[in-house]
Amino acid sequence: MIVDVENVSKRFGARTAVDRLTLQVPPGICFGLLGPNGAGKTTTMRMVYGATRPTSGAIRVFGLDISKNARAVRARLGVTLQQNVLIEALTPEENLRVFGRYHLLREPQLSQRVGELIELLELASHAKVPVKQLSGGFQRRLAIALSLMNRPELLILDEPTTGLDPAVRLALWGRIRELRAAGATVMLSTHYMDEAERLCDRVAIISAGRVVDHGPPAELIARHLAPEAVEIDCSPEEEALLLAGLGAPRHRMRVGGRIMVYLDNAAPLIDQIRRREPERLHSLVIRPANLEDVFLKLTGTMLEAGT
Ligand SMILES: Nc1ncnc2c1ncn2[C@@H]1O[C@H](COP(=O)(O)OP(=O)(O)OP(=O)(O)O)[C@@H](O)[C@H]1O
Ligand SMILES: [Mg+2]
Repeated sequence: MIVDVENVSKRFGARTAVDRLTLQVPPGICFGLLGPNGAGKTTTMRMVYGATRPTSGAIRVFGLDISKNARAVRARLGVTLQQNVLIEALTPEENLRVFGRYHLLREPQLSQRVGELIELLELASHAKVPVKQLSGGFQRRLAIALSLMNRPELLILDEPTTGLDPAVRLALWGRIRELRAAGATVMLSTHYMDEAERLCDRVAIISAGRVVDHGPPAELIARHLAPEAVEIDCSPEEEALLLAGLGAPRHRMRVGGRIMVYLDNAAPLIDQIRRREPERLHSLVIRPANLEDVFLKLTGTMLEAGT
C-alpha cells in the first residue's frame, strides 16, 4: 500500500475531527476522499503528509511510519493544500524557481524543470505576472505545478479543482490521469461528485470523521441504489398516490418539493404518470443514478430520507 491509515483518530480539544478512520490506497490509482464540510478530509490528508500527528492510530506512507520518517516520506510526495500557498509578490516562474531550490535542484535542471511545469499546467501566458494579479484559476494551476516539482510518487490534492472553470477542470483531470498513467498515486478530496466518478478509481465517503463506505464509484452506486433515477416534483401527499400500485422502489429520497426514486426499470412509473397526470412529465427527469445520489444517501445530507 502507498498509504495505509489504520484506526486513526484526531481530536482537537473536545472535538473529534477524525474518528477511528481506516483506509488503504494501493499504488498507481487515483483515490478520492468525499464528505460534507467538516467531515475530516483535510485533517486526514494533513496527517498523511505529516503536517499533524494523529491522536491515536498508525499511518504508513510508502510502507514507512510517517511519525518516524516524515522527512523521507515528504521528499517523495507532493501536496496541494485547500488554500494555495504562494508568494504573492513573485511571478509563477519565480515561485517555481524558489520551490525548485527548496527541493535542491540546481542549474541547468532547475530551469528545465520550471519550464516543463509551466508548459504542463499551461502557465506560459502568465509566467511573468505577479501572483497577486492572477485569477484564482491561474493561482490554483501554479499551486499544483509547485506540488509536482519533485516528481512525486504520491500526489495529495485537497480540493484541486474548486473554483476552476470547466475547461481548466477538464485539462487538469487530463494531467492527473497522465500522472497516474506514469505510475504516480493520487489522493484527492473533492466536493464534485462528477469529478470523483470520472477521475477516481476508488473513493471513500467520510462523514463525521469515519469512513461510511468505500470502493470504485460504480460499485458504490450498484450497492446502494438502483440504476435508474427519476426526479419528480410532488408533495408528500401526492407521492403515495404517484407510486401506488408500482411496488416499492428500491430507494427514494426527498429534497423539499422534489423526490428522487431509484428503480431497476423506470418505464412502469413513467407510463403510469403519462396516463394519470401527463402535465407532471414537464418537471420529470430520468437519469442514471450517480455518485452524488450515493453521497446524499450515505452522508444524510438529505433533509428527509426515504427508505
Ligand atoms: N486546527 C484545528 N483546530 C480545531 N479544530 C479543527 C482544526 N482543524 C480542523 N478542525 C475541525 O475538525 C473537523 C474536520 O475539519 P476538516 O478541515 O478536516 O474537514 P473537511 O472534511 O476538510 O471539510 P471541508 O469540506 O469544509 O474542507 C471540523 O470540525 C473542523 O472544525
Ligand atoms: Mg477540507
